[in-house]
Amino acid sequence: MTSVSLLLSLLLGVADVRGGSEFRICAFNLHHFGESKSNKNEIMITLARIITRCDVCLLQEVRDRKGTAVSKLLQTIRRYDTRNQYDLLASERLGRKGSYQEQYVFVYRTNTVKVTDRYQYPDNMPGDEDAFSREPFVVRFKAPKTSIQEFVLIPQHTTPTNATKELDALYDVLQNVRRMWRTENVMLLGDFNADCGYLAKKNRDKVRLITDRSLHWLIGEDSDTTVKHSTSCSYDRIVIHGEKFNGAVVPSSAQPFNFQQEYRLTEEQALNVSDHYPVEVLLKVSSSRSFNGVTSFTSSFTAFQCFCLIICHLLS
Ligand SMILES: *[C@@H]1O[C@H](CO)[C@@H](O)[C@H](O)[C@H]1NC(C)=O
Ligand SMILES: *[C@@H]1O[C@H](CO)[C@@H](O)[C@H](O)[C@H]1NC(C)=O
Repeated sequence: MTSVSLLLSLLLGVADVRGGSEFRICAFNLHHFGESKSNKNEIMITLARIITRCDVCLLQEVRDRKGTAVSKLLQTIRRYDTRNQYDLLASERLGRKGSYQEQYVFVYRTNTVKVTDRYQYPDNMPGDEDAFSREPFVVRFKAPKTSIQEFVLIPQHTTPTNATKELDALYDVLQNVRRMWRTENVMLLGDFNADCGYLAKKNRDKVRLITDRSLHWLIGEDSDTTVKHSTSCSYDRIVIHGEKFNGAVVPSSAQPFNFQQEYRLTEEQALNVSDHYPVEVLLKVSSSRSFNGVTSFTSSFTAFQCFCLIICHLLS
């Protein structure tokens, strides 16, 4: 029995090492994040716990008129995870004049990524001016530990009733960014409202972001990104452009993060944090490049794990 527990703790130790070699990108709709939430300690700790799992985390529905809630969140994050350094980059408040406004905020680890460029999409394409309520705030990152090295994130929180139109217009943003920065490594992410009542099945073949073969939708239609038990909708999505970038993603790693289950919260406690789960994806890391990339590292890990499990079985 002792040898079994010894082996098990050895296994956990190896799993921890592997955890340190991950690179995670997340998108999280914080559902009306502002002063009120920032004054609730329990909520702030849970947010910090979720966000510090990610190397880059896109936050949406930030409604912080005075700018105090976001800086408080950054403080909480920095106190919660002292092994990494964090900073953030926020867009202007976006939204049609005189109506509801939100910001996109990227929280990122300065020890694993650098912001190299940013671009507030002007949304003035001739013939399709003002296509978005919340024009994408596009950010370019350099991440030396990933195998892709550098990539661009295009965030989007669609207006539910205009989701089909806005998702199609994101295709124009993608082409614009590819030309401007001469890069193919682009990821589009956020609360697309791309399911249930907001994106009818019959309209999907009119959305270029869906029909273009160079785009890979990593979060499936049968995923549930909503916290409420009574709903099951795949609103939040991650879309990858290009074969090269798609090959730099850890296969099957894209998923919603069910923080309610993970942190053993009640539905009410979870809903007080947000009505959405974050969605996330892992990029392959290049630190084990001398072993022919992370895939062989992972498979040798799995082989080792199998070996240990067999030994455990024999011993018990
Ligand atoms: C939907 O988009 C149109 C323009 O494309 C805009 O005039 C309208 O206000 C949008 N609806 C909402 C609810 O934002
Ligand atoms: C959720 O938030 C409401 C409103 O702030 C509060 O009254 C309630 O006690 C909270 N519930 C839990 C389980 O934290």
